[in-house]
Amino acid sequence: MLNRYLIILDLSCFFINDECKNIFEKFVIKYKCYKGVFMSNLLIKNANELVTCSGKTAKYGKEMSDIHVIEDGAVVIEDGIIKDLGKTADILSKYDEKKYEVIDAKGKAVLPGFVDSHTHFVFGGYRADEFSWRLRGDSYMDIMNRGGGIVSSVTATREASEEELIERGLERLDSMLAFGVTSVEGKSGYGLDKETELKQLRVMKKLNEIHPIDISITFMGAHATPKEFAGRTDDYVDFIIDEVLPEVAKENLAEFFDVFCEQNVFSVEQSRKMYLKAKEYGLKLKIHADEIVQLGGAELAAELGLVSADHLLHASDQGIKAMAEKKVISTLLPTTAFCLKEPFARARMMIDSGSAVALGTDFNPGSNFTNSIPLMFALASIYMNMSPEEAVTAMTINGAAAVDRADKVGSIDIGKKGDIVILKYPSFRFLPYHTGVNIVEKTIKEGKVVRENK
Ligand code: NIG
Ligand code: FE
Repeated sequence: MLNRYLIILDLSCFFINDECKNIFEKFVIKYKCYKGVFMSNLLIKNANELVTCSGKTAKYGKEMSDIHVIEDGAVVIEDGIIKDLGKTADILSKYDEKKYEVIDAKGKAVLPGFVDSHTHFVFGGYRADEFSWRLRGDSYMDIMNRGGGIVSSVTATREASEEELIERGLERLDSMLAFGVTSVEGKSGYGLDKETELKQLRVMKKLNEIHPIDISITFMGAHATPKEFAGRTDDYVDFIIDEVLPEVAKENLAEFFDVFCEQNVFSVEQSRKMYLKAKEYGLKLKIHADEIVQLGGAELAAELGLVSADHLLHASDQGIKAMAEKKVISTLLPTTAFCLKEPFARARMMIDSGSAVALGTDFNPGSNFTNSIPLMFALASIYMNMSPEEAVTAMTINGAAAVDRADKVGSIDIGKKGDIVILKYPSFRFLPYHTGVNIVEKTIKEGKVVRENK
């Protein structure tokens, strides 16, 4: 085993600079693995429910209810990849248990690892004061317009060293792992200058190398207009297009591009201009749409065929229908609506119109400082009228589709990564029913137990 550690520590020299090496070593030892190197052979048997969420693409409308449950199920993982699944008796007749690490999941539900497809988890500083101001009646936009909000996280993120951001990032990723998250999307957007935007993206790239959770990286320089460009948003749009995008593409630092398309932030026209350029650079597109007012973000998402449009609290009927037609995923973020005391997105109408809905936490230092999956499930079920089956689909295969990884994660299917969650209870129905409580017992990444909640 020691030899294996040494090989891994040696490997670290290729991709980690000195400043990060200590952190890297600590985490290799903590997780006893490094992505793609220590993947083990695992057999999970006797699951009361094996919830497979089977599929390789997003599920639309009614399909979201179809989560493919195998009772008394088993799954076999070899070299980190799902090799087989079925009834326990059938699996045990084909595979020799002695060749595997075995988990007996009797009385438990087994699901695909959760995919949190919308977060802003790399940032400096906190904004607890703003939360109190909102409680006494100030709106999110009032605070942003008087120079607080996103821009105050920008100051703290510019001041934070790369090492600090990595340390905080690792703690936050660990907390996600405890909630059963095995893939996450993370955005930049607290730099708003070239240097800090690139710093945030590089930090996520390193975190992706050293932490078990897979990270999909999004460049979101178009999150707000920084002080240096106050009153000159068009110039800032040109700066993003001419100065930052080419560098992000050259260093291959991001997979997605996202814009906060909102009144007094970036208009539909400014957003369209940036999307057309980002597309030329090969980035996949996402949007913060109709979060605070109805601006036409959903319609823009449909027009340009974006991968997902997120928030949609105030999306119009027309926008929702256009998105369903163009198969743009609706990523809904109920904890943000809750924390902002805004109306919840119309999930029922979206699903009934044939849309694919994904759920994400939107974990960030401002509008929504929570990465709680149980709270998200509770709000989606109780206030957005999503059935437990639809919410599970939204957190697994549809979340995976929202980060364009539905062919690799998001379901328990042969050939996909062995990313799995074992619940303390016998059914996925306990997720909303045990309201607001974390019922994840084990989180498994590529066949390795990386988190146990005692
Ligand atoms: O998704 N709306 C824009 N972005 C985040 C909030 C970021 C912040 O407040 O720091 C959101 O709500
Ligand atoms: Fe967001």
